[in-house]
Amino acid sequence: MVLQEPFEGSGRSAGRRDPLDIPFRIPVEQSRLLHERARRTAPRGVQGAGRYYAPFPVYIRKAHGARLWDVDGNEYVDYHASYGPAVLGYNEPRVRQAVVEAMQDEGVLFSQPHEREVALCETFAELIPYVEKTALHGAGGSDPLYNAARVARAYTGRRLILKFEGGYHGWHDELAVSVRPPLAKVGPADEPTPVPESDGALPELAASIVVAPFNDEAAVERLVAKHRGEIAAIFVEPVVHSCGCLLLKPGFLRFLRQLCDAYGMLLVFDEIITGFRHGLEGAGARQGVHPDLAAFGKAMANGFIIAALAGPQRYMSLVGPEGRVLFSGTYAGHLLSVAAAQKTIEILRTEPVHEKIFRLGNMMADGINAAIRRTGVKAVCYSYGSVWSLYFNAAKVESYRDVLHAQAGVDPRVEIAYRTHLLNNGIYLVPRQPNRGFISYAHTEEDVQRVIDATAAFLDEHASALR
Ligand SMILES: Cc1ncc(COP(=O)(O)O)c(C=O)c1O
Repeated sequence: MVLQEPFEGSGRSAGRRDPLDIPFRIPVEQSRLLHERARRTAPRGVQGAGRYYAPFPVYIRKAHGARLWDVDGNEYVDYHASYGPAVLGYNEPRVRQAVVEAMQDEGVLFSQPHEREVALCETFAELIPYVEKTALHGAGGSDPLYNAARVARAYTGRRLILKFEGGYHGWHDELAVSVRPPLAKVGPADEPTPVPESDGALPELAASIVVAPFNDEAAVERLVAKHRGEIAAIFVEPVVHSCGCLLLKPGFLRFLRQLCDAYGMLLVFDEIITGFRHGLEGAGARQGVHPDLAAFGKAMANGFIIAALAGPQRYMSLVGPEGRVLFSGTYAGHLLSVAAAQKTIEILRTEPVHEKIFRLGNMMADGINAAIRRTGVKAVCYSYGSVWSLYFNAAKVESYRDVLHAQAGVDPRVEIAYRTHLLNNGIYLVPRQPNRGFISYAHTEEDVQRVIDATAAFLDEHASALR
């Protein structure tokens, strides 16, 4: 059986084994059966985009530390990290204990003010240099970003938001624009066409987004000047993990800061992946640039559901009930998520987590790039801290178009073959393009070396398909 995504024009000829059709060499029968069952009661048998891959996904049974086990009993070294939260490793025992104790002593949910949320907001103000106030959302990262857009519009009285092509800021209609637009729809490189990400999204919301290319100062400035007085905010991830690991050029964040100051726009950092993973102060402040607002989530509670909108009083005073930007939610400040965040942040502050995961991240990228050089394939691996991304068919990746062009020029089966090869070698990576991996505090050098060796073997075997 082959892990295969549908595509056209593969040119496979009958009778000859296609080297890119890599069969599973691990048992997957239970996953297959579960998928058949799941398809009857859930869209494509999964709970959300990114969880399905053809012909069926591996169904996970449990996750601890740096390991995942699937329903067939296969064990994997994990680099998925639930799309980022597991910065300390899955089900970290001390975080779990803190949550259990909070539940036993205090309960589950009040939907009323409590001391833990006060302490957590104080911690944010202590750790993040530009933060005075924090609104704790009881949900994923999409919610504080949605509220950031409201605050920016309310503060400036303007209508438009500028975001970058290929940037993901959650699933709400108004920001889910030009996240992964297909080549046929993207329009000019220096003035990309806003493309709604979802059927059913209101087209007028896409028209309230100005889309700009990453790393192109001249294009961004032209777009801002063209819409002078209309743009409320620029949204950006300080390290662009929506595109794998796309690095902003030195000075680009500072350029955005200056542009926002000059044109009266707010700068909003999406720190949903980068926050707490790349440093306690966030990846933006780590690079010396302070936004007006920032959204945090994922790694702040190592897997518990919580997110935050944070910033100076000047903007946060607009958030309800202090201001008139509606901020509500039954689960806001959820006791158990706040307890998890407190313990996670305590560990991040007191142990050499960032030192270790940055070191392992560098080891990963260096090892993979050495294998790329040795085999002479066209590929490149970028990393920032604990997150790395391997791009096939690319020499450099500086914009979403670079990602698109790289993908357009490579047989789509290469990605699938790589993923299957890793699964066969007991390694679990985010099952979608571009390949993106997360290292946690629970990983070891041996775990990292395993990925480097497996990748080197794959590149060796498929060097001709990848050149
Ligand atoms: C950069 C970024 N922003 C926002 C979000 C949305 O967060 P959530 O899925 O928790 O709603 C994500 C999710 O992957 C993300 O990667």
